[in-house]
Amino acid sequence: MKPDWYAELPQLPAKLPPSVVALALQFVALLLVVSGLHFADIPSNPLVFALLCGSIAAGLGHLVGLARWWLPIQFLFAPALVLVLNLHIPPEFFLAAFIVMLVVYWTTFRSQVPLYLSSKRVWITLEELLPAGHFTFMDIGSGLGGVLTHLARIRPDGQYYGVENAPLPYLLSKLRIHLGSYTNCHVRWESMWSSDLALYDIVFAYLSPVPMEQLWRKAQKEMKPGSLFISNSFAVPQHPPQYSITLDDLHHSSLHIWHM
Ligand SMILES: C[S@@+](CC[C@H](N)C(=O)[O-])C[C@H]1O[C@@H](n2cnc3c(N)ncnc32)[C@H](O)[C@@H]1O
Repeated sequence: MKPDWYAELPQLPAKLPPSVVALALQFVALLLVVSGLHFADIPSNPLVFALLCGSIAAGLGHLVGLARWWLPIQFLFAPALVLVLNLHIPPEFFLAAFIVMLVVYWTTFRSQVPLYLSSKRVWITLEELLPAGHFTFMDIGSGLGGVLTHLARIRPDGQYYGVENAPLPYLLSKLRIHLGSYTNCHVRWESMWSSDLALYDIVFAYLSPVPMEQLWRKAQKEMKPGSLFISNSFAVPQHPPQYSITLDDLHHSSLHIWHM
């Protein structure tokens, strides 16, 4: 339950990614606790200080409507910083970890589409959805290229394309295609928003709930009549698929299918 005065609070712009909101709230909490130190007799123990920051950040997160799973992260962020600093880990370790996360996840903080991979069951079910004869297949957000290379091996009569905007997955998928000599497989370091979906008979997406509405509008505008749009796991709000296939993989994935 939010208190009555909540409605009077200035609302954060809806378009700000939750990670940016969460970080901003950490700074607000820090400022509030630092200014509180001037007026109240708060013990100067770093862990108590961090727990206060965490409690305020979590409370503010709840008020501005961050998803529930963000709240423990908000609460634990500052205390975890204090505890990890006490381990005296060399700063180079954090720089290296940051760089690895950056090249793997790139703009995930904004797109809210992280890297995780379709299961082998999904690959195999996709085989059955491919049309007879020559066709073009696009995996938007192609990750490590597993979907593309699997299908290219099983159905060499198709042309397979992928776009991936995170540098390390893109490079690894290029390497995978090169080492496997898949001449019918092509990935580009590009955003899915700038690729023209009119060029493909099948467009496959495994993203997150966040971009699905915008992606649907793009697919409707660009995809050819008779082409297939397939989404692994994530539905399009207000546009039910013509049919869905539930798979018996670890996550009980569903493939949602639309004939455009
Ligand atoms: C959930 S993974 C799916 C990987 C692969 N398609 C699969 O099914 O195994 C989503 C991928 O989309 C990529 N991605 C996110 N936003 C993107 C964008 N705007 N353009 C291209 N790729 C994007 C992410 O970097 C990530 O690798």
